[in-house]
Amino acid sequence: MKNFINLKDISAKDLRKIITDAKKRKIARKKLNNLEVDKGSPLKGKLLIQMFEKSSLRTRLSFYLAIKQLGGSTLTLRPNELHLSKGAESLEDTAKILSNFGNAFMLRTNSDKKLEEFKKYLSIPIINGLSPSSHPTQILSDIFTVEEVKKKPISKLNICWIGDSNNVLNSLIAASVKFSFKLSIGCPKRFEPGKEIKKWVNKNNKKIHIFNDPIKAVVGADVIFSDKVISLNDKGNKRKKIQAFKNFKINKKLMRFAKKNFTFLHCLPRGDEVSEDVFLGKHSHVWQQALNRVHVQKSILLYCLGKLR
Ligand code: CP
Ligand code: NVA
Repeated sequence: MKNFINLKDISAKDLRKIITDAKKRKIARKKLNNLEVDKGSPLKGKLLIQMFEKSSLRTRLSFYLAIKQLGGSTLTLRPNELHLSKGAESLEDTAKILSNFGNAFMLRTNSDKKLEEFKKYLSIPIINGLSPSSHPTQILSDIFTVEEVKKKPISKLNICWIGDSNNVLNSLIAASVKFSFKLSIGCPKRFEPGKEIKKWVNKNNKKIHIFNDPIKAVVGADVIFSDKVISLNDKGNKRKKIQAFKNFKINKKLMRFAKKNFTFLHCLPRGDEVSEDVFLGKHSHVWQQALNRVHVQKSILLYCLGKLR
């Protein structure tokens, strides 16, 4: 049994294995409908319990289809209906019950500490479905999409992030170390990645390139990633933050500095950080990106349950 909490803690070899498995599974079920089960029904009889402390559309739907396509089933808990959230039951006892009833637990949470606490008491795998500090299932799936669209290993591409230093970027930075790709980040000085993640990159003898000028970040990029300026977890002055990002808008003018055949990706939901013509334009693969999460979630579940081929 393996947990999937942070890309930093998973070996590059295992991450690559997950992507390779997802590629094979996606090809193998080309003619199957959404709810038809993969050959061999590898997670037959298994229950994935999901809990969302914050909103979700894509993560919820993709895990639903993922476990179904592997032959298992899923149940989504509403945190406000559990004794835990009212302080009437301990996390330890909740974890014990989850472990006795289910086979894996997916948690989207407001607290990184809670993920660690659950990990301590669960005897089934835990998957991080987004926390304040990371969004690992999103980024692993995005690596899959980049390689699918570009038809080459991500290590051969220049990747660029324009936007806030948030959970999604933290996971992209972790991926840049694990998959050895060049990562340029464009953001205002005040919103640069934190010291801790920079220290981790240095410790791993890798480099990220940070620019406070969006043009410098975009020059020569094969793939541009972005995300909302304001995340679910943001508590600061939103108006001021949006103002600080005013010059970082992803529009056709800025994209002229990327490579001619650049690809645009966005985890969704979107805000004003990207213009409509780029978001819906021919370089954008955002819908394919969202759908690919089903395929990668499946291989993550198999990895966690010791069934990866
Ligand atoms: N990208 C993503 O995780 O979407 P949801 O918040 O809708 O799950
Ligand atoms: N950074 C965003 C990602 C949403 C999928 C958030 O945390 O709200």
